[in-house]
Amino acid sequence: MSKIIDGKALSLKQRDIIAGQVSEFINKYGRSPGLAVILVGDDPASRVYVKNKRIACEKAGIKSFDYHMDTDISQTEVVSLIDTLNAEDDVDGILVQLPLPDHLNTQEILLRIDPSKDADGFHPYNLGRLLMGSPTIVSATPYGIMLMLKEYNVSIDGKDAIIVGRSNIVGKPMAILLMMAHATVTICHTHTKDLGAKVKSADIVIAATGRPHIIKGEWIKDGAVVIDVGITRTETGSLVGDVEFDEAIKHASLITPVPGGVGPMTITMLLENTLKVANGRKQ
Ligand code: GUN
Repeated sequence: MSKIIDGKALSLKQRDIIAGQVSEFINKYGRSPGLAVILVGDDPASRVYVKNKRIACEKAGIKSFDYHMDTDISQTEVVSLIDTLNAEDDVDGILVQLPLPDHLNTQEILLRIDPSKDADGFHPYNLGRLLMGSPTIVSATPYGIMLMLKEYNVSIDGKDAIIVGRSNIVGKPMAILLMMAHATVTICHTHTKDLGAKVKSADIVIAATGRPHIIKGEWIKDGAVVIDVGITRTETGSLVGDVEFDEAIKHASLITPVPGGVGPMTITMLLENTLKVANGRKQ
């Protein structure tokens, strides 16, 4: 059996299931679920993500409302758009593409989204529910990773999992989900001492730093499962992950490629989250 986790194939399979559920929603309520996506500025990577999200929404039967705002837009204008979308009946989910330009207050903007429309699961209410062990909307990347692990029959109970990266979007929610599945979880970050030894002791490695090849292949324990969230474009134009794939695959029992691993799953789980919030509103 291949050691490579095929995130693309798995995400397409899951998107078919979601498209079927979207059809049921449309038959029942006479309208499509709707997702509003706010993009501020011209960051090339964010533009690609947003475009891919829009295409995936359309294919699944979800209506996509795109708001592309100038880089120098004011905080008041973004907040006011969110207020409008919170009150809009056709908008079930709202997503603000991150990172935002430095002059904007990300925390305040995320807080402004109605938690029942928070398709990303970034609102403190939804993060808090996850922390308490009764999740509502879970952020798409960690949610997709949990589905990958399940589909590839990775046993988590009692395993040592290491997460490299402590972001609100990936590292922190990932830690909670793995803990809920009874793993022993270690979170590592820029101040961690002897990262190599810590990675070497892990049965499950989640790399989410955005620093290309920071995880050396030789650090991977024989038989470990490696999930690479990082995706960075090099000067030569190729996409690389946080993990030295060519060496890591010699040791891992399963590993995600970059691209074609975690990325497509994230978009799929966003579709699932949008349908979930739409079903929660039921109108
Ligand atoms: N930027 C990087 N990943 C994400 C994501 O999952 N959602 C949003 N909104 N922004 C991101």
